[in-house]
Amino acid sequence: MRLFAAVPLPEPAHAEVAGLLDRLRRRDLPVRWVRDEGLHLTLKFFGEVAADRVGAVEEAIRLANAGSEPLAMRLDDLGAFPTASRARVLWVGVEAPPALELLQDRLERRCEAIGFPPEGSPFRPHITLGRVRDGERCALEAVEEAAAPVEPLPFLATDMVLYESVRANGTQRYQPRLTVELGR
Ligand code: 2AM
Repeated sequence: MRLFAAVPLPEPAHAEVAGLLDRLRRRDLPVRWVRDEGLHLTLKFFGEVAADRVGAVEEAIRLANAGSEPLAMRLDDLGAFPTASRARVLWVGVEAPPALELLQDRLERRCEAIGFPPEGSPFRPHITLGRVRDGERCALEAVEEAAAPVEPLPFLATDMVLYESVRANGTQRYQPRLTVELGR
């Protein structure tokens, strides 16, 4: 199964980003927007994981959670990967305390210990809004014009979740498999 660990976006930030997506969907942009239900900040993408390895992944998440704390964060500006002019992934940034990076680093090390190689690229906390359709171009500017400004809303994240990514009837759904409470 396809797994990833993430911090789900709580209210009121969830409603703000859902509203943003609503405005964006009404524009004719060549982007597949994500569903409101699954808005999250990814900490670790595992890819395809064999059923007999899921227990080890869950244990790594529990161990990484030791020493964590609820995270006071804030929505930030829109951004794009890999670059603003040739965007493939469009996102809203998240301003986070050092504790988020420490959590992501602990998780990365716990996962490495059970055979999942660390990400090559630096951690950039973000909430993905959409992915540019194959063969199309969409500059970040066009998205900013359609959706900005993003309200720099503060929010408190209290959970880390292991999600299973399931594709059914052409839609991607994220099903929580394990939830751990930050700071517990
Ligand atoms: P993203 O937040 O940057 O889009 C589920 O697919 C989640 O896993 C997505 O939110 C995505 O992060 C993350 N992810 C990281 N690397 C991935 C990859 N190579 N393929 C698919 N998803 C990936």
